[in-house]
Amino acid sequence: MTRFRPFRNSDPPALVRLWNQAIPPSATARPLRVHELDTHAFGVVPFEAPGLIVGERNGRIVGFVHAGFGPELALASIPPFQLGFELGTIAMLVVEPGLDDQELAPGLLAAAEHYLRARGAKVVYAGGLFPLNPFYWGLYGGSEGSGVLSGHESFHRALIDRGYQPVSSTVLLEADLSNPEPRDPRAALIRRQTQVEFLEDALPANWWENLGVGHCPLTAARLLNKSDGSPLAHASIWDMQGFDREDGRSRIGLINLEVVPDYRRKGFGRFLVSEILRRARANLVGLVEVQTAASNQPALALYASLGFVPIEHSTLYRLP
Ligand SMILES: CC(C)(COP(=O)(O)OP(=O)(O)OC[C@H]1O[C@@H](n2cnc3c(N)ncnc32)[C@H](O)[C@@H]1OP(=O)(O)O)[C@@H](O)C(=O)NCCC(=O)NCCS
Repeated sequence: MTRFRPFRNSDPPALVRLWNQAIPPSATARPLRVHELDTHAFGVVPFEAPGLIVGERNGRIVGFVHAGFGPELALASIPPFQLGFELGTIAMLVVEPGLDDQELAPGLLAAAEHYLRARGAKVVYAGGLFPLNPFYWGLYGGSEGSGVLSGHESFHRALIDRGYQPVSSTVLLEADLSNPEPRDPRAALIRRQTQVEFLEDALPANWWENLGVGHCPLTAARLLNKSDGSPLAHASIWDMQGFDREDGRSRIGLINLEVVPDYRRKGFGRFLVSEILRRARANLVGLVEVQTAASNQPALALYASLGFVPIEHSTLYRLP
């Protein structure tokens, strides 16, 4: 018999134990420490205790589910810390291995759906893809947090059994910096026309990004036109602390890559990313991680041309 109840302040050690048993090792921070779960999940603005529900058997926590909401959009025009309550998401489901039976996972999902609806959700998603990524960015899902990781089988199974349907897919890619640097025939010309700037200890792009990765060292990279200093492209890099515990290889995450629309297809995106890889190599970083929608062919082709390979994919689900 499983008892479902909301989060209590004394729960984190048991939740971390479950995380370390049940979360897949790829694209996650594992083994996790208790204070890290506090930083990324329980200590953040969107956290509400009733949205984190634990399942107990004989007084022992055997699973938890965590639901929440994204920011009101658009981020730039709305005052900080305002959440949008129409769309809710089940950001995480963790069940003790071997116990994902007909009672535990469905019961947790039902409790999370009930919480989301009671708070105003009209549509229920599962997985944490921006803007529905209130928790776990920086612990789960690689460089940006995304949907349910392909290796997180118990979460997928529970969602599909309950009638959730996949709505989008994200590819997680990795560049191994011990491999030789790919050659770019246009690099010499672009180097003459442009200037690359790295700004260390950069500020996050907005309050939502600050909740996710603001506590990690963040670097902003900009590609500028040498003649007039106008921007051509930008990206940010964060130090993916904790993701190296399984294989001992340090990682940085590349986010917010964007080339100014009028300057696309001229090699600037590839040049900026290759400069980021070059700098990472010089700083003895082992791996660079990125992710993009499975439908974003330009980004996938750009990353492939620089030696990135897919390592995982993740899925966002919706309850019809
Ligand atoms: C994805 C993006 C960064 C590419 O930047 P870019 O400067 O236009 O790309 P490049 O000119 O450096 O292209 C490098 C390679 O990527 C591929 N590529 C880039 N744009 C492409 C497109 N529209 N269609 C197909 N392939 C494309 C090609 O293989 C290209 O090599 P080639 O020109 O020798 O054929 C740019 O389109 C962009 O800012 N998109 C919007 C934001 C975005 O999607 N960011 C990525 C999120 S992870």
